[in-house]
Amino acid sequence: MAKRVLSGMQPSGPLHLGNLLGALDNFKRLQADHECFYFVADWHALSTNYEDTSRIREYTREVLIDWLATGLDPQRSTLFIQSHVPEHAILHLLLSMITPVPWLERNPTYKEKQENIEGRDLSSYGFLGYPVLQAADILLYKGDLVPVGVDQLPHLELTREITRRFNQLYKPVFPEPQALLTEFPKVPGTDGRKMSKSYNNTINLSDSEATVRAKLKTMVTDPARIRRTDKGNPDVCPVFTLHKSTISTQAVIDRVNKECRTAEIGCIDCKGLLADGLVQRLTPIWEKRRELVQKPKVVDEIIDAGTKKAHAVASKTLAEVNEAMKIG
Ligand code: TRP
Ligand code: SF4
Repeated sequence: MAKRVLSGMQPSGPLHLGNLLGALDNFKRLQADHECFYFVADWHALSTNYEDTSRIREYTREVLIDWLATGLDPQRSTLFIQSHVPEHAILHLLLSMITPVPWLERNPTYKEKQENIEGRDLSSYGFLGYPVLQAADILLYKGDLVPVGVDQLPHLELTREITRRFNQLYKPVFPEPQALLTEFPKVPGTDGRKMSKSYNNTINLSDSEATVRAKLKTMVTDPARIRRTDKGNPDVCPVFTLHKSTISTQAVIDRVNKECRTAEIGCIDCKGLLADGLVQRLTPIWEKRRELVQKPKVVDEIIDAGTKKAHAVASKTLAEVNEAMKIG
């Protein structure tokens, strides 16, 4: 049987080029020969945004629209919203009974976020239990493979520990899920750091062509190349990294790689070439996006159908869990 793939994404804002190249392209590839479940983790978003929930619904829908626009196919993949399938909360509760608190307290992501996210009180029970909810997300669908970035590895390890504990205590209901690391190198944002919403350096899938071009104009380059006549080093330039991130053709990459070093090409022209490649890459996504935004009913139907499919699988697993635990 085809292996089952499962992954989730938090609705923390509009999706950007980093999400596209790092995750979505991978999600899309996997749907060709796996049974895929992809969902928007809106309950997870509450763990850090419980004080201001005003945009979670809007972002949840935007994520789904971006997924569809980039080619996730609801005929092949089950696309849904976490909070529409209440079994996630039930399994979370059951797993919370068997998860030792010290496992959660020593989770590096827990400590890191508590220290690094300023101005928010992250001492909640729900924030500590974030990985237990994630384990429930994965186990409900008996996911074999979980495509995620390296930052999620501690959470995956916890899921595996919880899985083993459940299977030992009761019955071997769940396969042990495996992380499927996205091999893509980090996509740089306009300031040269990793592209991330929290750095305000993103190129969003919903940006217009004019915005994309304007953002690229401000992008940092080889810091040693100050004047047009200075020779540059593409190896240290984030613009060049983007060229190579499956955006520009090999001919453009070769040209920049050569002409930057000899100052034959200037940064403005180089960025123009990058913008052309990016616009070409994003145009089909923009077109599909526009179409979907104009047909909200179609999006609703896709979400409803995905929810039904997810619910059928989730309720079956939950019945097995109840049986194994002799509860309910
Ligand atoms: N924690 C993941 C993130 O922030 C999102 C997520 C929630 C997830 N549940 C999941 C990812 C289950 C994979 C599987 O990116
Ligand atoms: Fe970077 Fe291109 Fe300028 Fe070279 S020409 S420094 S690769 S932006």
